[in-house]
Order: sequence, then C-alpha cells, then structure tokens
Amino acid sequence: MKSITVELADRSYPILFLPGLVTGADSAAQAPLAAAMGDSIFVVSNETVAGLYLASLQKLLGDRKVDVYIMPDGEQHKTLDQIDAIVGELLAGGHTRETTLIALGGGVVGDVAGFAAAVYQRGVAVIQMPTTLLSQVDSSVGGKTAVNHPLGKNMIGAFHQPKMVVIDVETLKTLSPREFSAGLAEIVKHAALADWDYFQWLQANQDSIMARDSACLMTMIEWSCRIKAVIVASDETEQGQRALLNLGHTFGHAIETLSGYGVVLHGEAVAVGLMMAADYSVRTKTLFDAAPTQLAQLLTAFALPTALPKGLNKADFLQAMNRDKKTTTDGLRLVILRDLGRADVTSRINERALEQTLDFFLENASGSG
Ligand SMILES: NC(=O)c1ccc[n+]([C@@H]2O[C@H](COP(=O)([O-])OP(=O)(O)OC[C@H]3O[C@@H](n4cnc5c(N)ncnc54)[C@H](O)[C@@H]3O)[C@@H](O)[C@H]2O)c1
Repeated sequence: MKSITVELADRSYPILFLPGLVTGADSAAQAPLAAAMGDSIFVVSNETVAGLYLASLQKLLGDRKVDVYIMPDGEQHKTLDQIDAIVGELLAGGHTRETTLIALGGGVVGDVAGFAAAVYQRGVAVIQMPTTLLSQVDSSVGGKTAVNHPLGKNMIGAFHQPKMVVIDVETLKTLSPREFSAGLAEIVKHAALADWDYFQWLQANQDSIMARDSACLMTMIEWSCRIKAVIVASDETEQGQRALLNLGHTFGHAIETLSGYGVVLHGEAVAVGLMMAADYSVRTKTLFDAAPTQLAQLLTAFALPTALPKGLNKADFLQAMNRDKKTTTDGLRLVILRDLGRADVTSRINERALEQTLDFFLENASGSG
C-alpha cells in the first residue's frame, strides 16, 4: 500500500492510496482503514456520490454505529445551513467527541464535512475520502475547511487537519470529463510551481492520463499530493510558502466572480489564470518567452481553456482581483513564475505589465462565459 505522511508534529497524518476501496472492487484494501476508525462514524456525502459509493463504504464499516447525512449536490449548498443540519443530526444521533466524520465526495462535501468536524463539540476527527480529481490532489490535503457566505466564497472556515486521507483512484472512472479536466488544472499548477520533472512527465503521459489509466493516475496523484504535503508541512496556515499554491488563482478567482459561479468551473478558471500568471511573468522578465506556449500545449491536451471567456472588462477584472481574499492590507499579491517548476510570491506589482496582460487576454477572449 502506498502512503504519504503530511508532517505536522502531533497532527501528522497519512494519505493512503487504496485503489478499489470505495468502489468495492478490492476488499483486501480495507484493513488499514478499519484499524484506524473508531466505533462511531458519521458519514457526510452528497446525493450523486452516495448513489455511487455509499453502499460499498457502509459494507466496509461493518458493525459500527454509522449515521449518514446526504447533502444536495452543488457549490450553492456549501453553506452554514448545511453545517447547522449536520450538527443537528450529530446531536440527535447522540454523537460524542469520540465520533469520526467521514467526508465521501468532492471538494464541496470535504469542505462542509471538514468544517462541521472542526466545530462540532469544539472539534472531532474527520477522515477525508475524496472522489474527484481536484479533491484528491488538492482540497482533501492541508486542513482548510470552509463554507460560503452570500458576500464571499469560503469566508467562514477553520484550519482542521484530517485524521487521514484515503484516496481510491478508481472513483475517478465515474467522474464527468469536464470535472476530470478541472482537476488536471490544479495538477498542472503543482508541476508549474514546484517541479519541472513532473511537468515533463505530464507532457509525456498526457494520452494515458486522459484515458484515465489507473497506474498513471496513481503516479500523478501521488506526485501532486507529495508536492502539496511538503508545502503544507512547511507552512500550515499560509503565512508564507503555502501562498505559492495560489499560482493562477488571483486571476482565476476574478474570472469565476465575473462569469458567475458554476458557469466556469474553478479548475477551468485556474487554467486561464495560469496562462495569465505566465504572461505577466514573461512581461516582467522573470520567465522565459517560450514557457506560456508549453503551458498552453499541456492545458489544451487536458481539454482546458487557455483564453478568457468573452464579455469581461478591465475595470471589473482589476477590481475583482483586488477584492480577492489573498490580497493583504499591503495590497495585491501575485504568484509569479521564475521557470516552469519554480514560483515566487510578490507584492511588488508592475501595474503596467499587469494592465498589458489584462489587455492582451481581453482582446483575445474566445471562450464562452
Ligand atoms: N479546502 C481546500 O483546500 C480547497 C482547495 C480547493 C478547492 N476547494 C473547494 O472544493 C470545491 C470544489 O471541489 P470539486 O471540484 O471536487 O467539486 P464538487 O465537490 O462540487 O464535485 C464536482 C461534481 O462531481 C460529482 N462527483 C464527485 N465525485 C464523483 C465521482 N467519483 N463520480 C461522479 N461524480 C462525482 C459531485 O457530486 C459534483 O457534482 C469548491 O467548493 C472549492 O472551494 C477547497
């Protein structure tokens, strides 16, 4: 069994790779998980994922006391109302601080269940069982949990590290092509900010990745989790290094905000954001000229957009970037590329270069939004 440890002193935890566990294809994979769970379990999932995988998970949980809460599907349900409902069910079911929550689903379920675990009786254990590519390489690792407020995404939350993360790559076989590609955007981001060897490996294996070859997916997800685990271990609460993971995100969040949530998927916005960050980096002479072309080739191979959707304007875009929560009291911060495989955070913004990047992408907008 493959595993990676997120090193956080007494809050360290493993990311276990157990293919076939959640899909029910491999019952031998159960043992390590069964050993780590307590006797009282509360599963949070959504209607889509529960329909696919809840029965296998319940079989695996055996004789334990298991209660289940099924959320409606969708980002619009990442709200305090869901936390209130989960806490109500936990109390009604007589769950104590010994209970372990299991988050079975994508990033929305993971963020909601993680936040419920952070606040229920001042904190109970949570096991993340991510079932989307994005959640397997990103949201399930690192302990960020949150729900949305009508005035802002992820504005109510807490850092609450999971007890473990269990990844079954076989669950990705039922994911829609669009959601699968959205997860690949975060993977390209990991390679671009941290590891040129990984970037080249993605280039060389793009066809097998798109064919969802299991062995290839395992290698890729493990590689990305390692990158994220090292960064989280060095800066758990984003005081420094962890901000590198925001590469492409300040541009990306502006695209999401201005297009309307759900129209452009987060990963799709990140893909265009990566192109914009690369363009800005070339204009400010920190990145070699040919890098954006290489980045665009990989994103295109992964069926991701590289151009802005039509209908946006510069003033709104700049305003949305400045309102991003990664912005500090000192103003806008951007993650820039110094190479393919190396990034830096800067708050010394070259306004002229930024405007040129925006002008260029707005003039060449092609996607629908
Ligand atoms: N906590 C963090 O560090 C962090 C990081 C990145 C993103 N996020 C959050 O993650 C969320 C996005 O996560 P996401 O992209 O996983 O979206 P999601 O959770 O909405 O899942 C996408 C869709 O795929 C479906 N689905 C999930 N697993 C499936 C499977 N195996 N087969 C078929 N369908 C499946 C879901 O029901 C949903 O319809 C956002 O709310 C974002 O803010 C959090």
